[in-house]
Amino acid sequence: MSADDWWRHGIFYQIYPRSFQDSNGDGIGDLDGIRARLDHLVALGVDAVWISPIYPSPMADFGYDISDYCDIDPCFGTLAGFDTLVSEAHARGLKLVLDFVPNHTSDRHPWFMQSRSARGNPRRDWYLWRDPAPDGGPPNNWLSNFGGPAWTLDPATGQYYCHSFLKEQPDLNWRNPEVRAAMHEVLRFWLRRGVDGFRVDVLSDLIKDAQFRDNPPNPAFVAGQDPAHRWLPLYSTDRPEMPQVVAEMRRVVDAFSDAASSRVLIGELYLPLSRLVAYYGRNDAGVLEGVQLPFNFQLIAAQWQARSIDRLVRDYEAALPAGAAPNWVLGNHDKPRIASRVGPQLARLAAMLLLTLRGTPTLYYGDEIGMTDVAITPEEVQDPFEKRVPGRGLGRDPQRTPMQWSDAPQAGFTTGTPWLRLADDWSERNVEAQARDPASMLTLYRQLIALRRAQPALNRGDYEALECEGDVLAYARRFEAQRVVVLLNFGAGEAAWEPTLLPAGSIVLASTHPTRAGSVENAPLLLAPYEGVVIGFASAP
Ligand code: GLC
Repeated sequence: MSADDWWRHGIFYQIYPRSFQDSNGDGIGDLDGIRARLDHLVALGVDAVWISPIYPSPMADFGYDISDYCDIDPCFGTLAGFDTLVSEAHARGLKLVLDFVPNHTSDRHPWFMQSRSARGNPRRDWYLWRDPAPDGGPPNNWLSNFGGPAWTLDPATGQYYCHSFLKEQPDLNWRNPEVRAAMHEVLRFWLRRGVDGFRVDVLSDLIKDAQFRDNPPNPAFVAGQDPAHRWLPLYSTDRPEMPQVVAEMRRVVDAFSDAASSRVLIGELYLPLSRLVAYYGRNDAGVLEGVQLPFNFQLIAAQWQARSIDRLVRDYEAALPAGAAPNWVLGNHDKPRIASRVGPQLARLAAMLLLTLRGTPTLYYGDEIGMTDVAITPEEVQDPFEKRVPGRGLGRDPQRTPMQWSDAPQAGFTTGTPWLRLADDWSERNVEAQARDPASMLTLYRQLIALRRAQPALNRGDYEALECEGDVLAYARRFEAQRVVVLLNFGAGEAAWEPTLLPAGSIVLASTHPTRAGSVENAPLLLAPYEGVVIGFASAP
């Protein structure tokens, strides 16, 4: 792997820091905890870590409400501790990517406190302030992603401010050049400390319609759905000015790249495919000047059937601009976990899919041991989304429970009381137990990652769609003379695959079913229910 394209061929691992490893017994994960667990990531075989926000925050949205962009929240550690984490990660060959939250600050950020203090304050225009509608209500119909209007009245100055999320998360005004400059400085602050890039939170929303027009109704909206989807976010998201904003951000980050290693921008973008790929920022000269990795969340919403996944992979491949780096994600801290969405058997198939498709995979902590969503009682709810829109399955606590390390008390996560309950299965489902078990999910993840690293066809080869037969999703990956075939049986029955469709003399390099081994006979290959196999040659022929 050449040093400057690590994000193109490497594997990312997302850490939700509150839940990964506590080092001081307060029940909240922290930076020293992450440092203590770096060897798990090395043994897993990932290349880069993305850490959800660790900056000073009142924690109204658990760190996505930032009151100081250039420090570390005391519950997570100190700047000095962060520097140690960066150097220890780098010493192990791991890249470190931070979460950059540019759309909004905390309402306790000094910028917002100044902005709200008076209409004439020089920082007034750093946020989105509007007069009330003629009836005194909000200036338009925009909705918060966490329920209710996206506007809150500030009685002292008689205007509303815009917040795409909680009222404690006021939106910055990215049309203001001073805001852009200040936020670019934030990027430089961390780049100078050696971080390898940023995952950019709600990137699509930074620019809002200059005229603040009402959003139109969503014809697909049905009662009982997430109330924020009542309108199409036409004027509040993905505006035409975004490519320019992203290209500026990219230039800031690129200035810190050198021949030895490039810095990366990853965009959080829940957009339809045609809009998503625009964030690669292909300019008239064919140069990609947007984010290197616009997160591709299609597998999160996908129907887990061979044909629908085949279709979406083909469509994604076809939509990518020349030279663009594809990427795939199975889950994150905002979405139900993969093992709960598809069940334990298909979760193994999903791991194989993620790690054999063409494109940078991002793993969510705990998925490598098959952690599932944990039922949280109403009294235990922590997530502000669940508190504001209760009982609709929108809350995100279930997928944020503490990492299960061992059968020690509290799964080895903390010596105190965890901030969120552990899953009931922690004493059996944990890293220590699974590391010893050749049939475990962890062993499967380690094997697939090792295979992806060892096989150029898997980590840098082309994608070749093969014809699906029945419930079997089939594709090949090709690099120079090397060809690897992946067969994934999504069905509950056995499936046969003709040997003529496989490279002659090839062997099963990996299977989701630990008992399978050996060469491909001159007879149909029988896939067990929900079995996936990778077929090729141990080394290039
Ligand atoms: C993103 C984050 C989510 C957060 C929201 C507001 O969607 O992933 O966790 O609540 O932005 O910052």
